[in-house]
Amino acid sequence: MADADIIRRFVPPHPPRTEGPVAAWRGFFGERARTAVYGWSEAAFGAPYLKRKVLGYTVHMPLRPELIQHVLLDNAANYVKPDLVKRLLARTIGQGLLSSDGDLWRDQRKIVAANFAPAPIDRLIPTFAAAANGVAARWHDGEVDVAASGVAVTMRIIADSLFAGDARLTTEAAVNHIKAALDGVGEARLQVLLGLPLMPWSLKGKRAHAGQRYLRETLGQVVKDRGPGGGPDDFLGTLIRALYAKFPPGEAFALAVDNAATFYLAGHETTANALAWTLFLLSEQPALQERCAAEAAAALAAGEADPELPERLPLLRRVLEESLRLYPPAPRFDRQAAAADRIGDYAVNPGDIVSIWPWLLHRHRALWDDPDAFDPDRFLPGARAARHRFAYLPFGGGPRLCVGMRFATIEALAVLAHWLRAWHFAPLPGREVQVSGMITMRPKDGLPLILSRRSH
Ligand code: HEM
Repeated sequence: MADADIIRRFVPPHPPRTEGPVAAWRGFFGERARTAVYGWSEAAFGAPYLKRKVLGYTVHMPLRPELIQHVLLDNAANYVKPDLVKRLLARTIGQGLLSSDGDLWRDQRKIVAANFAPAPIDRLIPTFAAAANGVAARWHDGEVDVAASGVAVTMRIIADSLFAGDARLTTEAAVNHIKAALDGVGEARLQVLLGLPLMPWSLKGKRAHAGQRYLRETLGQVVKDRGPGGGPDDFLGTLIRALYAKFPPGEAFALAVDNAATFYLAGHETTANALAWTLFLLSEQPALQERCAAEAAAALAAGEADPELPERLPLLRRVLEESLRLYPPAPRFDRQAAAADRIGDYAVNPGDIVSIWPWLLHRHRALWDDPDAFDPDRFLPGARAARHRFAYLPFGGGPRLCVGMRFATIEALAVLAHWLRAWHFAPLPGREVQVSGMITMRPKDGLPLILSRRSH
């Protein structure tokens, strides 16, 4: 069913855009140094390709789907994770799945793949429901920060579904340290680009380092407590056992901690943002929100553990997909060319960086009608089939496609269905919503909405 009849044209907020190109050096100052999607020109959202020099690096930004397909799929073997990114992330996630390449990446992807197949994820639907209801039990009529609720629910879910509910992973200290570690990325990025040692320059930098240390130590202890046998038969247990079977003990331990950190962080922060942005968009569309709430109530009537739940939520799924288009939680990701290549007409030298920008692609004038406007009908089956599959990349593409894509989608749908069935979300009058973040895209300073309990 199309939604055009009930959607008011709505252009949700995005950072201001300049008319002309923005000089690369601007990326190191002001808001642009803190927020990846800040400071773009209108021209960037219409260009087929951008190329920049950044502190001696050549950075290519292909913006046509077929060019991106070349990088992520057709010649994926030539485009590895950049050394700069590895250095930036090494202190937190080491050489885990997200930040490794070649055989080490392939071995790790094989080890975790079984946990992310459809059947194990469908079995988590009751876990998603319990976490959603647990967080909503603390809500009250009135102002609630749904961004904080998004973090609480996804952290609970990742701890319960991958780490046997380890209480050390859901503490307030953990929440604060992760936020500090992410807030410090802007400063660390500049140090990495300048080839400087990664040392705190500011209070923010100090907090970020403390956050990274806390995460490594906590997850190191969690892995140590399990021992080489891995303990329970959950994600962490099977991961530890498979790593010890394949690698020498020292390496296996380090990789277990790297992947524990990778999955703990990649597995909750992105989905938390997707939840917050989706609720924000629905808060601005009261009629659509009512329809989603009715769909959720009907779908949940089939039972909280129903594996068909996601299929019973087609409208909510379209809203979620549109939210991931407008506010992709990972607004950019990068590769580095191993050997010389051509991306369409553009020559690439070994060592060049290739940046893929869902933020630009998802709002590109050549790919979307009225690109900044909210319209879930873009994801009706016919419209989707007419689009190039590399025009929409919230989860990346090719062999490095997000391994948690199905987990995140079903988790988000289940959580949103429970929340929308029981609560109504309205904007907080006078509150301007802004984006922020260098690696993930968060609502700046949280996302307070006005909640009211639905009467049944
Ligand atoms: C809405 C939620 C999510 C979004 C938008 C998202 C986005 C992405 C993107 C864009 C990539 C590709 C990065 C690249 O190619 O460089 C990726 C990779 C990855 N994601 Fe997600 N993700 C989400 C949820 C999750 C969840 C729930 C998990 C785990 C439970 C997860 C774990 C990972 C891992 C481990 C990788 C690296 C895969 C590899 O390189 O083989 N993500 N994600």
